[in-house]
Amino acid sequence: MSLNKIFFLATFFFFQNLVAQNSVEIDISKTTSDISSTMYGVFFEDINFSADGGLYAELIKNRSFEFTLPKMGWFEPNSDRHSYNEDSGIGTVMRYKGHNSNKRYLNVKVNNSENYELINEGFRGIGVKKDIAYNFSILAANTKGINKITLELYADEKIIGTSTIDLIEGSWRIYETIIKVNQTNPKAKLKLKFEGEGSLDIDMISLFPSDTWKGRKNGLRKDLVKLIEDLNPGFIRFPGGCIVEGRTLDRRYQWKKTIGPIENRELIVNRWNTEFSHRNTPDYYQSFGLGFFEYFLLSEDLNAEPLPILGCGMACQFNTGELVPMDDMGPYIQDALDLIEFANGGITTHWGKLRAEMGHPEPFNMKYIGIGNEQWGPEYIKRYKIFDKAIKEKYPDIIIISGSGPFPEGDFFEYGWEELKKLNVEIVDEHFYKSPDWFKKNANRYDSYDRNGPKVFAGEYAAQSDQIASPKNKNNWECALSEAAFMTGMERNADVVRMTSYAPLMAHTEAWQWKTDLIWFDNLSSYGTPSYYVQKLYAEYSGTEVIDVKLNGSKATGQNGLFISAVKDSIKSKLIIKVANTSGKINELNLSFNGGSVNNELNFIELSHQNIDAENSIDSPNEITPVVSNIILSNISKSISIKPNSFNVLVFQIK
Ligand code: AHR
Repeated sequence: MSLNKIFFLATFFFFQNLVAQNSVEIDISKTTSDISSTMYGVFFEDINFSADGGLYAELIKNRSFEFTLPKMGWFEPNSDRHSYNEDSGIGTVMRYKGHNSNKRYLNVKVNNSENYELINEGFRGIGVKKDIAYNFSILAANTKGINKITLELYADEKIIGTSTIDLIEGSWRIYETIIKVNQTNPKAKLKLKFEGEGSLDIDMISLFPSDTWKGRKNGLRKDLVKLIEDLNPGFIRFPGGCIVEGRTLDRRYQWKKTIGPIENRELIVNRWNTEFSHRNTPDYYQSFGLGFFEYFLLSEDLNAEPLPILGCGMACQFNTGELVPMDDMGPYIQDALDLIEFANGGITTHWGKLRAEMGHPEPFNMKYIGIGNEQWGPEYIKRYKIFDKAIKEKYPDIIIISGSGPFPEGDFFEYGWEELKKLNVEIVDEHFYKSPDWFKKNANRYDSYDRNGPKVFAGEYAAQSDQIASPKNKNNWECALSEAAFMTGMERNADVVRMTSYAPLMAHTEAWQWKTDLIWFDNLSSYGTPSYYVQKLYAEYSGTEVIDVKLNGSKATGQNGLFISAVKDSIKSKLIIKVANTSGKINELNLSFNGGSVNNELNFIELSHQNIDAENSIDSPNEITPVVSNIILSNISKSISIKPNSFNVLVFQIK
């Protein structure tokens, strides 16, 4: 045999090994189920500085001196709290008389206005942008001898924005001013200087960018809402997560304390504070500036169904697991009923009136409510039952979400499902934080679910490259690709799986407690992880009905590393095929269409990276992002090559 021939044969066999041939049969006329408009949503929890220090755009940490250490986040460089500070001044934390929620304020005594300074460090610094105006406000009272406050935003020892406030003698009043900034900096600080000698009381010291989401005064961080909006969420689940339950019942989330004027919203320590999570966040509190009204508003803005989750008289079972005795459950049940009235009630109802006073007379049209976050065992079932009864009696149309605990299998899970089935519940929330391998192996998880039983809300899931929530976890391409593979199984079973959300949604790069997360941000920038783009593609191309698709005659659940699902968008007359290739080989798909035909030209959206360990980052946010192209298939073969380690969306026009 000639050398040439040997080379030819070797090359032929080499490529034969790298390319796998597959037949893919799509029956356009065979729809197996509708797809819920809530199929792909988001799960927001105030974890990883997602609310305070994140989405809620307030830049002053501990603005009302309510942290356990009341001056945490504040500095008085020239003061000494053990001396009389004759050459400077001192801030003393005071208790209000008879105030229940906002308990404290600061009495500032200035002996030398040249020396006394009160500085706030912000949330890991104050992120400011050149030429943007910042809205400053402060409550002040009882000014004696001090007539002016000078504000300085500074960074690297340079003043980058300044303004002043003239004070009037008398009782509490709000003062506002605007600070324009001439430099972009992620680590600025705010300094307050006081003119004159004497004293005054101050509280609610606040600084917000003016360029918030929708320009709302003291609203949400624009870039972060935009990232959420781009996910096309069908629902927003809020406010958690473990923070719903609280480590103790005293520290549970109480929605009624999160509405109304912000100065009356009682701050509590966040469940993800270092005290509990062994991470570097001793300064993690919940100011509730982002409260239930704002969550409803955000859902409305994004055209997503609001899905509040309420505590059910059980503190987090991974922590104290405190229980409210069954006889004392009344107020908890009432909270759920009142919430429905707050969201949907007319303006003549007690809670509907409050909503109207907050600026939203129209109802929010809430359809779903979750009872308990991640509870398990008989105590949960007992408590769930009484919520179910009370809610259905008064509001039969509200859909109630129940939960099957923290794991996707095992005793808690089995018990929960068995009992909830007996109760004929509507939707059961499942949580799974597992390895990429688990996700791939479980792509057929819902194929065997009871078609006549409760529906599924996959309410928290994410592939973990290391252990659950481990600091070593990476938001890498391997995790995202395994989620994409798993999601073909959720999509194929859209008759059972009606809602899904990745968790957690967001994390601050300098103040996180839990990895992995869908969106990362620092004080100025933000980016989507590879998992983010998987979620985005599924939601953007969700379709309206599931279509039958076969890979070499069977469901595509991993043969040759391929996971495939198909949907039809009846409104746009599109056929959409999603293909995850988790193998290191090129997979050739030889497509055949039955029960209808499609155009040869298709939109091809590819998300891929040949290094499965690759990640996006603040410095390199687009390492893995979708690439869109147009492809024309040959009339004869209708075949298409799918890259190794890639997730692909093929969009055809139905003829
Ligand atoms: O998403 C992070 C945490 O995981 C949630 O707070 C909790 O519900 C789950 O254990």
